[in-house]
Amino acid sequence: MAESIEHPCVQHKLAIIRDVDTGHKRFRELSTEITKFICYEALKNIKTKEVTVETPVASATCRKIDTDIVVIPVLRAGVGMLEGILELVPTARVGFVGVYRDEKTKLPVSYYERFPPQIKGGTCIVIDPMLATGGSTVCAIDLLKEHGADNIIVICIVTCPEGIEFVEEAHPDVRIYAAAIDDELNEKKYIVPGLGDAGDRLFGTSH
Ligand code: PRP
Ligand code: URA
Repeated sequence: MAESIEHPCVQHKLAIIRDVDTGHKRFRELSTEITKFICYEALKNIKTKEVTVETPVASATCRKIDTDIVVIPVLRAGVGMLEGILELVPTARVGFVGVYRDEKTKLPVSYYERFPPQIKGGTCIVIDPMLATGGSTVCAIDLLKEHGADNIIVICIVTCPEGIEFVEEAHPDVRIYAAAIDDELNEKKYIVPGLGDAGDRLFGTSH
């Protein structure tokens, strides 16, 4: 199941981050800003518990988050979304998955993983700005599940029907949140219209 966040504040920022003339400094800032809004929506049904708080006036019945939250950026481009999540959930723990897409085969190659133990029983948020074929995301989810995670959501900035279908087939329990579900993939397996190579645009490594 995939959901795109149609709020005008998200869509406005998405228009700017897509723009080929947006440089890496602004691209990074927008990645943080957009991710924070998507995460806000994605966590709307997260587990909470009732607590009593003493205000200066009286007791108030309140709710607090009642689950460990573990954010898993997919290296490298997922790192550009981390700050946005940590601004919203400063106590979140962070794990890492290193996956890159082989330029020839377009298949994911995993090279690193490091998870906190709280992935078991906690809420895991996989972050990667681009969910294109879905191969990298499925690879990250496979690794998380192999290490005991069973409550996983994915936050990306742009995805497309082909990628969503691939993730849904492999992991029907995982919900995907995005700022946009674009039209298709091109022959290079880039999302169209997309925003180009997210890692290069984030880190200023394009030619
Ligand atoms: C990009 C992107 C995703 C992947 C998406 O990473 O950040 O991880 O491609 O493609 P897929 O859905 O078809 O797997 P890339 O391989 O360019 O590595 P990078 O983050 O190191 O730039
Ligand atoms: N990786 C990217 O960075 N962009 C795409 O459109 C597809 C994969």
